[in-house]
Amino acid sequence: MSQPTKYWAVVPAAGVGKRMNANCPKQYLPLAGQTVIEQTLHNLLRADVFTAVSVAISVEDPYWPELPVARHQQVITAPGGKERADSVLSALKALQAQASDDDWVLVHDAARPCLMPSDIHLLINTLANDPVGGILALSSHDTLKNVQEGSIVATLDRSHVWRALTPQMFRYGMLKSALEANEGNPAVTDEASALELQGWQPKIVEGRPENIKITRPEDLALAAFYLQQLNLEQSV
Ligand code: C5P
Repeated sequence: MSQPTKYWAVVPAAGVGKRMNANCPKQYLPLAGQTVIEQTLHNLLRADVFTAVSVAISVEDPYWPELPVARHQQVITAPGGKERADSVLSALKALQAQASDDDWVLVHDAARPCLMPSDIHLLINTLANDPVGGILALSSHDTLKNVQEGSIVATLDRSHVWRALTPQMFRYGMLKSALEANEGNPAVTDEASALELQGWQPKIVEGRPENIKITRPEDLALAAFYLQQLNLEQSV
């Protein structure tokens, strides 16, 4: 009898977030009564689909062990790497003994605390029978320019341009081998790009615009507002 498909979450959380100008990595900044990473992990855990969540943490990080969620029974800690892709690969390797090549992995940035469980379910349900997998993404409302040295050299056809969000959902075996084949390649800025470099064409699934990445100080106030709105929406 075949086993039901398993879903794993991988959370790269080993960045320093220089653009925040804060005295700790951005994932530990306070947001709506918790830290950013606690909000992110609670959103993943309450989706109620993951066998475990593998979190990549810098080996010099003194903040993570202080958080109760670090000891949650579904949370596994893996050592972070130099680049985001290295951290993702490390978190995948931490699942090696338990995960099968055909299991699905959803990779989600620690710095995206406003992910709605409904977007996780949308991604999973839309891609359930897809041979490759795909990502949450947003269409562009603005006209987009190709700029070189401060001058516009072209206007892009925005109907073909999407903004990549996370989670990004791929089969465990395919994702791990794509990241291993492209180790050290600076073109790998997300999981989809590693798959694309292997010749695959991942799908896009339109996500919610509230799923922002905390990058600059002003993003925290916006994220707090979105969380309040999303919680209100869930309570009705
Ligand atoms: O820096 P940026 O916002 O693009 O990082 C996206 C995510 O990747 C963050 O959650 C960050 O903690 C993580 N990251 C990582 N290891 C690195 C660099 C970034 O886990 N070496």
